[in-house]
Amino acid sequence: MTDTMPPDLLEHALAAKGFMPPDEGELLHRVARERLPHGPALEVGTYCGKSAIYLGAAAREVGGDHTVVFTVDHHRGSEENQAGWEHHDASVVDPEIGLMDTLGQFRKNIARAGLEQQVVAVVGQSTTVAAHWRTPLSLLFIDGGHGEQPARDDFAGWAHWVEAGGSLVIHDVFPDPAEGGRPPYELIYLPALASGAFEEVEAVGSMRVLRRVSGLAGEAL
Ligand SMILES: C[S@@+](CC[C@H](N)C(=O)[O-])C[C@H]1O[C@@H](n2cnc3c(N)ncnc32)[C@H](O)[C@@H]1O
Repeated sequence: MTDTMPPDLLEHALAAKGFMPPDEGELLHRVARERLPHGPALEVGTYCGKSAIYLGAAAREVGGDHTVVFTVDHHRGSEENQAGWEHHDASVVDPEIGLMDTLGQFRKNIARAGLEQQVVAVVGQSTTVAAHWRTPLSLLFIDGGHGEQPARDDFAGWAHWVEAGGSLVIHDVFPDPAEGGRPPYELIYLPALASGAFEEVEAVGSMRVLRRVSGLAGEAL
């Protein structure tokens, strides 16, 4: 077993629509392979399943009936995905209801990759799902809405579910405002470090990997 994505699944990850450069995807895959033997992983922000394929590949390699990646999304797109915004893709709008719907694309991508056993979609608002969530996470990957409120909500709703020694991975962290939006940096990454519960262990591109160094899953940060 090598450290990198299995070639058959890398092909599916590269082909899926989405926002994850290959080097960041490889990092996500590697961290997931280390963490998944300790418990389930959860991703906030599925979109069409690109990052879920990197995570699901790790789950397939780790093996076992209970090695699972949950991925949460209402599949209606973030603010920045809507018509008129930079990251809009008209091909993922349902013409009948006039709303974005990435669930079908996600289902197709995960089925084609053969990862339906490993990747479980949770379809709904991140805040609603988080309010009912009670399971410690070996890895939490936050890549949901990048506006201020969604970023604040994702940190408040999910970060404390990372188990001791577990990983909090955050996407689109831009310390330099010239490179990208502020909320993942200011409202997820900095508060995680300021809580004292997390320390940074790795960075590739805009991806940051933090480890929980104090407290237990479910305890307030
Ligand atoms: C940046 S995209 C995720 C990209 C994906 N991880 C990939 O690799 O391609 C963000 C996703 O978060 C979802 N999202 C935004 N706000 C949300 C919320 N409050 N609850 C659930 N999903 C949300 C959007 O629908 C969108 O699909």
